[in-house]
Amino acid sequence: MKVIKVTDQFEGAKVAFDMIQEAMKQNIKTLGLATGSTPEALYKEMVESDVDFSHMTSVNLDEYVGLGSDDPQSYHYFMREHLFNKKPFKETFLPNGLATDAKKECERYDAILESHPIDIQILGIGENGHIGFNEPGSSFDGKTSEVNLTESTIEANSRNFSDISEVPTKAYSMGIGSIMQANKIILLAYGTKKAEAIYQTIKGPITELVPASALQVHPDVTIIVDEEAGSKL
Ligand code: F6R
Repeated sequence: MKVIKVTDQFEGAKVAFDMIQEAMKQNIKTLGLATGSTPEALYKEMVESDVDFSHMTSVNLDEYVGLGSDDPQSYHYFMREHLFNKKPFKETFLPNGLATDAKKECERYDAILESHPIDIQILGIGENGHIGFNEPGSSFDGKTSEVNLTESTIEANSRNFSDISEVPTKAYSMGIGSIMQANKIILLAYGTKKAEAIYQTIKGPITELVPASALQVHPDVTIIVDEEAGSKL
């Protein structure tokens, strides 16, 4: 694992975007993308650049169960607002939050992942070490599944909802096994709240109790942290 310390998310976004552009010179096709506040500066960097993504495919990590793509809290909406409306991609994929047959939806998403191998996966990290919505205890070889969000994730994400009772309790998430298939992984983390998770991810034991610790055995992982998130390293 390579750790890069940056001063803030804006520098982090520049470093991550440089890595993406470098890889794009090798004709990569597919980006694995995340939502949440962490990648916002990166998407802004992408939007403000003159880089063309119209030949690229994106596959997102997750979507809340129960939210349609026009719901402003959905990850479909987030991705359109922050990236796709301003930087068109050839194809974009997210799980369908309104799918009622969970098994079928997970199989559909796994088939998408199989036909679109991820060249670079962008990750944020939860305060409890989750990646995607793979909460502590998730299997390291898991595929897409319908997951129950933990109290701590629901609480952390409630900042984007008017009331905590509105936060969905379930999500469809790409599994850790699929995340590990990505050729290159860039994990971004900013702020004190992420410091313990980053410490456990990099210096702690490899354990399903810290989902991101799986990354220790991936051959090409770069972790970009600001001073606060890297303060325990
Ligand atoms: C979002 C995702 C999550 C977030 C994590 C951190 O697609 O997969 O793992 O990356 O919950 O969220 P923020 O960036 O809002 O702190």
